Amino acid sequence: MKRLVSGLQPTGSLHLGNYIGAIAQFVELQHQYDSFFFVADYHSLTGRPTKKELTASTYHVLAMLIACGVDPRSATVFVQSQVPEHTELSWIFSNFCSVGQLKRMTQYKEKSDQYGQNVGLFTYPVLMAADVALYQAEVVPVGDDQIQHLELAREIIRSVNAHAGNVFTEPKPLLTKGSRIMSLSDPTKKMSKSLAGSAIGLLDDEATIIRNIKRAVTDSDPNSAKPSKALQNLFTILEVVAGPEAVKDMEAMRKDGKLRYSELKELLIEETLHFLEPIQKTYSSLIKDPKALELMALNGSRRARTIAQENLSIAKKALGLVG
Ligand code: ADP
Ligand code: TRP
Repeated sequence: MKRLVSGLQPTGSLHLGNYIGAIAQFVELQHQYDSFFFVADYHSLTGRPTKKELTASTYHVLAMLIACGVDPRSATVFVQSQVPEHTELSWIFSNFCSVGQLKRMTQYKEKSDQYGQNVGLFTYPVLMAADVALYQAEVVPVGDDQIQHLELAREIIRSVNAHAGNVFTEPKPLLTKGSRIMSLSDPTKKMSKSLAGSAIGLLDDEATIIRNIKRAVTDSDPNSAKPSKALQNLFTILEVVAGPEAVKDMEAMRKDGKLRYSELKELLIEETLHFLEPIQKTYSSLIKDPKALELMALNGSRRARTIAQENLSIAKKALGLVG
């Protein structure tokens, strides 16, 4: 089986953008690949969360992965900081990556305005390269905002391989059409927890979901010749929460010039609530038992670490490191 690796940062409450762009693919792909999913807690330190925020977000992501359908008996689910080899390989990799390459990263430019120019934020993609190389990942499912990082990871790995012999596998990104869900309040920006009214949170209550979908921006006539970006986005979300048939019906109405945003929104509200109900139910029982989540992560981390240690040791030998 081919190996698949992906990570999710614990940075607050997950939303439908995260689900569609990342978790839904994890669930779909977990049986086709030897899958490794981890909580990228070291990466989220770049935003300097408080102790309470970081711990709560880590449990949140673990519980949400399981509630959404990731099966820890089939996939290896773990926490990045429980496998110290990630940071060790990251140091090695930093010698195969230039300042210029890192300066070109759009996420660094955007996020350093927000958090300041901390070195962690700057070298973030180096750690990400180590995350995937450590397991010899062949495929990495990511949202389209991470493609640039993954391209850089491939360059770093190529450079290490050129220097030390073919030690690591070059990973390929795996994109789906839900790789960029747009904000409900501004369809030119991606759905994000940091924009008010932008996201449908996976844990949002009914009133919030109704309010945010009702307020969603719909910038032009739903029956105009070409569907607007806003409409296309609502269709993508509908397809995930209600299935392709629901979208086909709406598209047929559009062709007949009979589609109304109010009806589409009513359907989207109903289907979203229906879709989130079992997820929220499972989540709330999982989050009540942090000990069980801890144990699951510990088991996953143990398994991940065995592989990580093996690959790191091969790399160290290939580079001439004696330790
Ligand atoms: P946010 O932008 O809300 O802070 P993150 O940057 O923590 O979200 O993203 C976590 C994961 O979810 C990444 O894999 C990212 O590609 C994916 N993701 C985030 N927002 C979206 C979106 N709007 N559409 C598709 N995928 C997304
Ligand atoms: N940078 C990713 C994000 O912001 C999270 C991540 C860290 C990741 N390491 C990874 C994703 C390795 C894929 C593979 O969402």
